[in-house]
Amino acid sequence: MLETTSYAILPSKVNRKVEVRHAVTSVNSYKWDGKVLTGTLSKGTFCIYFINDKTMRLIVNPFGEVDTAASIAAAGDTERMSGTLEENDRSLYLQIGENEVIIEKESFRLSVKKEGEVLFQTDTPAVAYNSEKHVYFSIKKNPDSPIYGLGEKSGFINKNGSKISNWNTDVYAPHNKDTVELYQTIPFVLMHETTKSTGIYFDNTFRTEFDMQSKTDQLTIMAEGGQVNTYIMLGQDVKEVITLYTRLTGKTPLPPKWSLGYHQSRYSYTSQDEVKDIVTRFKDFEIPLDCVFLDIHYMDGFRVFTFDEDKFPQYKELIKELARENIDVVPIVDPGIKKDVDYPVYYEGMKKGYFSKYLSGEVYYGEVWPGISAFPDFFNSQVQEWWGELHRFYTDLGIRGIWNDMNEPSVFNESKTMDLDVIHNADGKEITHREGHNLYGLYMSKATFEGLQKLLGNGRPFSLTRAGYAGVQRYSAVWTGDNRSHWEHLEMSLPMIMNLGLSGVAFTGADVGGFSSDTTPELLIRWTQVGAFMPYFRNHSVQDSIYQEPWAFGMETLASVKKYIELRYRFMPYLYSLFHETEKTGLPIVRPLVMEYPNDPETFQCSDQILVGGQLLVAPILRPGQSHRSVYLPEGTWYDFWTREKYEGGKYHLIVADLDTLPIFIKAGTILPLGSAVKNTKEKQDIELQIYHSENGMMGYLYEDDGYSYDYHDGEFSLSTFKMGEDLELRTEREGFYTEVASIKNIEIIGLNK
Ligand code: GLC
Repeated sequence: MLETTSYAILPSKVNRKVEVRHAVTSVNSYKWDGKVLTGTLSKGTFCIYFINDKTMRLIVNPFGEVDTAASIAAAGDTERMSGTLEENDRSLYLQIGENEVIIEKESFRLSVKKEGEVLFQTDTPAVAYNSEKHVYFSIKKNPDSPIYGLGEKSGFINKNGSKISNWNTDVYAPHNKDTVELYQTIPFVLMHETTKSTGIYFDNTFRTEFDMQSKTDQLTIMAEGGQVNTYIMLGQDVKEVITLYTRLTGKTPLPPKWSLGYHQSRYSYTSQDEVKDIVTRFKDFEIPLDCVFLDIHYMDGFRVFTFDEDKFPQYKELIKELARENIDVVPIVDPGIKKDVDYPVYYEGMKKGYFSKYLSGEVYYGEVWPGISAFPDFFNSQVQEWWGELHRFYTDLGIRGIWNDMNEPSVFNESKTMDLDVIHNADGKEITHREGHNLYGLYMSKATFEGLQKLLGNGRPFSLTRAGYAGVQRYSAVWTGDNRSHWEHLEMSLPMIMNLGLSGVAFTGADVGGFSSDTTPELLIRWTQVGAFMPYFRNHSVQDSIYQEPWAFGMETLASVKKYIELRYRFMPYLYSLFHETEKTGLPIVRPLVMEYPNDPETFQCSDQILVGGQLLVAPILRPGQSHRSVYLPEGTWYDFWTREKYEGGKYHLIVADLDTLPIFIKAGTILPLGSAVKNTKEKQDIELQIYHSENGMMGYLYEDDGYSYDYHDGEFSLSTFKMGEDLELRTEREGFYTEVASIKNIEIIGLNK
């Protein structure tokens, strides 16, 4: 407690210890097999190979043999490229594809060149370690160029100049610039310059730290254990690096369409009557709704896979009834299993030895919502299968989506998590919690998603997680945890979501309205405007805060909130098409301007505007009482979505936006598919094509399928590409066999005579 007062800065508390690091140098011996270079160093061993012509893996283990196995995250590490090796007295020269890797024998300094240009360079020493077995990897960075990535982090979009560590942590205290460790760990950065981008993925699950601060021209990555295990991606721009990174760690699969609609949540709707009441209000006010969440109070004593039958006496009927009204229900499922021998999940887990244990074989117990609890060892595939199968309880009720929370794992104790000497059993490979901590949420998401996949047969599951590691996008959407109803948190959600997208995680959102603290009508309106364009759109709030459902503040606020929920559905055809693109390319839905305009330095630090796909720019109001803001429109011509006014890009504009207006701009040349008004995504929409005129031609596309099954894998989709040239004839090309396509009811050319 004292730590939250000035006691925290007691003079004796300054840590002046100088850390001693030992450099790893000189190549003592090496072996080249035509694809993989291995060798010994002044201390330890190294290994280098390319998994494609733009991704190099470098491993250095100062303490012994390198471990070359690909991690669960690096699922795309399957190929080894061939090359040639030459040497002279000073260096080894590896030629692989167009890359020349130069390794200085004495210092073990390494650089990669292409056509004489240096693409990547380590510093000296490249690798070091200390007596606590921490490892360090140092590379050169440009002091003035932005560095993005690292997933879910507080602060603005550019991380160059800061020191950021990764340790999955449940942080209820208000998130701010100094709240460095949040729920997710994605040890990946993207260093961008106008002519090139370089991705560094440090695939080490121990606590890591990216120091971009101590030296202006150096990035040092430290891990509190393990080996230096890096994938270096040599891209020409941001998009190429994300493509390479998601080739390695996986792409966001196409979610079921209902998961892209508006979701309403609260901690908690505590009875079936309250749930029904919420849904009725949506109907009465004619607000579109796809899903209602059940937070922890639906359970019997917070035991997952149960219902509180006093509060939810007809839960089976409730879920069926809502399904008939096309409303999905997503329950929360936490990892903590109540220690209670009369609770079958605990009993069975104990009998089968499925909980995380100490070396002695004793089960680890920690306190969470249900009291003393045990935690499944999700690292083990048998446990994953068991866990997956337990979800039959929900799928039998008609549930198709699960919300995983508290999976850092969060434990109510000093360390906030499990003891670090707990041992996880990853199918025979035993790792300590110190090493596996950051993976716990990823493995839980895998178990949930794959379990649901099996149970739903041909249906696409929806899973939402708080904790995760690199690659989490393969299994789950991510929401950014316990934010607050603070304007600063609305503002921060933009760079946070953009950096998640730059780190491969495309399906993301922040709690709209803010989770804790009390929201205000104005904040709720502005946040709903932003939420409508986020990949994931859920309004959620904590138990002791005021209610923040759309109608909570009277009719005027309701009208505005409703307008933006409706707008979400209007843009659904465009959004769903983007999710299709994401599944193919790995590129995020919400993009920073730099992704589409990598040569324009004006975009490098832009944290308060987003691009949704390549053509739509959203510049929300992020402060109370404001009705104007400066908007940077990159090169080209843009149209205001509301007024249709034309704007020249490459400069700043002062835009007026009263409380009911979210500034939205569409790039000239876009053919934008919009949908007709619906109550939710299960209703079929008609399409309206808005064609934003450009003398250079216009283009757009529309992806359609049944919205919920995997039939699209077998060609049951329709991908329409629309093109229009100077003759103003609309040409449509269509791929796929899906026949129940929406009808195009209206086509409008905008900006033709202006
Ligand atoms: C955690 C979650 C929050 C949830 C609450 C109760 O704080 O982050 O979203 O409502 O637990 O389950």
